[in-house]
Amino acid sequence: MGSSMKPQVGDRVIIREHVAADLPDYADWQCDPAVGEYVSFLPRTREEAEASLRDAIEQQTEPDRVRFFVAIEHKDNGGILGGAGITLIDEHTGDIGWFLRKEYWGLGYATEAAALMIRFGFEDIGLRTITAVCRKENSGSRRMMQKCGFRFERATENRLEYTLTYTDWKNNAADRHSGS
Ligand SMILES: CC(C)(COP(=O)(O)OP(=O)(O)OC[C@H]1O[C@@H](n2cnc3c(N)ncnc32)[C@H](O)[C@@H]1OP(=O)(O)O)[C@@H](O)C(=O)NCCC(=O)NCCS
Repeated sequence: MGSSMKPQVGDRVIIREHVAADLPDYADWQCDPAVGEYVSFLPRTREEAEASLRDAIEQQTEPDRVRFFVAIEHKDNGGILGGAGITLIDEHTGDIGWFLRKEYWGLGYATEAAALMIRFGFEDIGLRTITAVCRKENSGSRRMMQKCGFRFERATENRLEYTLTYTDWKNNAADRHSGS
C-alpha cells in the first residue's frame, strides 16, 4: 500500500510531498506552542521536528506506507503555510490532521488544503473512511470538520471524534456541483 503523492493543486494552495529543505518552515510550526495548544504530540523540540520530517520523507518510498504527511504550500509564492497528514489505521481507513502556521490562520487555507488531502485519501490511497479527532476546545478544527462534511461520532472526556465516508464525500461533492 502507499506511494508518493503527486502535488495536488487547489485554487490558492498546493499540497506536496515534503523535501529536506522544508526543515526551517516545518520546525517553525511544529515547535510553536500556539499551533500545539490542542495537539497531543505538539509542540516538538527542533530535534523532534527534524526526526518527524525525516520520517515523512522516508515514508514516501516505503512500500507499505502508512503516513502521508505533506506540506501545504502557497500556490503563488511557494511559501510553506503548514502541513496536513493522513495516517492509515487499516487498508481502508485513515486518520487526518491539519496544521497551519499561526500567521496564516483565518484565511481559508486549511479548509482548502483539507479538501485536497481528503480527495487524495479517497481517490488515490483508496480509503473508504477518513476519521478525525480534535480537542473539545479546538473551535477552529471543529468548524473545519463541519465544513469538510465530517459526521460527529462520539465525545470522550476531552476529545471529539468524527468520520467521513467515501459515500458521504461523493454525495456532498455531487450536491456542490448541482449547486444545492
Ligand atoms: C485548525 C486550523 C488548521 C484551522 O485553520 P484556519 O486558518 O482557521 O482554517 P480556515 O481559515 O480554513 O477556517 C476554517 C473555519 O474555522 C473557523 N474558525 C477558525 N478558527 C476558529 C475559532 N477559533 N473559533 C471558531 N471558528 C473558527 C473559520 O472561521 C472557518 O469557518 P468559516 O469559513 O465558516 O468562517 C488552525 O487553527 C491550526 O493550525 N490550529 C493549530 C493546529 C490544530 O489544532 N490542528 C488540528 C488538530 S485536530
